[in-house]
Amino acid sequence: MLTQQNYNLSQLNTFGVDATAEKLVEVETLDDLFELSDHGLLKENPVLFLGQGSNLLFTRHFPGLVILNRLTGRKVLEEDDDFVFLRVSAGESWPELVDYTVSRGWGGLENLSLIPGSAGAAPVQNIGAYGVEIKDVLDCVEAFDLQTGELKTFSIKHCRLGYRTSIFKTTSKGRYLITSILIKLAKIPVLNLSYKPLKEYFNRYPSGTIGICEVSEAVKAIRRSKLPEPAEIGNAGSFFKNPLVSSGKINQLKSQFPGIPFFTMDNDKYKIAAGWLIEQCGWKGKRIGDAGVYDKQALVLVNYGKATGKQIFDLSQQIVESVHEKFSITLEREVTVI
Ligand code: EPU
Repeated sequence: MLTQQNYNLSQLNTFGVDATAEKLVEVETLDDLFELSDHGLLKENPVLFLGQGSNLLFTRHFPGLVILNRLTGRKVLEEDDDFVFLRVSAGESWPELVDYTVSRGWGGLENLSLIPGSAGAAPVQNIGAYGVEIKDVLDCVEAFDLQTGELKTFSIKHCRLGYRTSIFKTTSKGRYLITSILIKLAKIPVLNLSYKPLKEYFNRYPSGTIGICEVSEAVKAIRRSKLPEPAEIGNAGSFFKNPLVSSGKINQLKSQFPGIPFFTMDNDKYKIAAGWLIEQCGWKGKRIGDAGVYDKQALVLVNYGKATGKQIFDLSQQIVESVHEKFSITLEREVTVI
């Protein structure tokens, strides 16, 4: 394996911002990881495991080792009349994986079509869209422990997956490199059309004519109508999480802002649409230099060309402040800021 110095990361993040890494190495096999470990390279601080770079914002030079995750491979480990257990290496492309499973007629991932990123990154923030999260199909995660140099298997329970969170983003942040995921897919798919725009899309379809291919195509069409294509406009999807508030807070907000969109969650919590909060503060479609707020979805920050990570971060900070001022809600970033 070749370790490269002062590596330019602009092609390795979907925001397309300029940044460099002190060192970069590409891993294609588990043996590559063990070799790095044997040479003591993984004890270097900090280490960043980079897949497709679709959920991060570089705001500075990275003073450590970037490990480019190029672990590939998909394998059916077990199957019966009802289910398929598929093991997927962490460096596999997520959208290609979804297309593959849909083409085989295996249900479970169709609502997660076209999400940019790698399979290994999916459990880190429990990716979700259109009523489905990876936690609904995940069986376990295999990861390399930077502290012990060993591989470890995490059951779904141990991953503690929640709304855009897991132990890999919280209590065990920086300790494990996810090397593969095991997912359980259904041979007799059960469709999830609970998400309103998806239900509306199929309004005029006769029942019995919708399968996972149609759902996947619908999700792609809805995403394309709202979200910018990273190859055309730099972005990392939703920049912030939708905030969760208490019943007291939602009642207060409803009386002050009757149109506020929210969803009722478990444990007496309410999820508010952050895109709406940002739009109400006048940010939708705004642009400061080349950093901007997407005009079709205010939750997405974009790089129109030459914005720096710092300029995008500063814009996000101004948004946090104005949402706090108007609604007394502090938005949390979904994107990892480096
Ligand atoms: N809205 C506005 N203005 C906007 C954007 C949204 O008023 O500019 C309001 C609308 O009322 C809309 C509601 O917000 O009905 C929800 O918007 P949308 O359906 O676009 O979903 P979201 O809550 O903004 C979340 C995920 C997306 C995921 C979609 C669909 C988060 C942080 N984001 O967005 O995930 O695709 O739901 O399930 O939960 C991502 O994480 O990168 C991502 C794109």
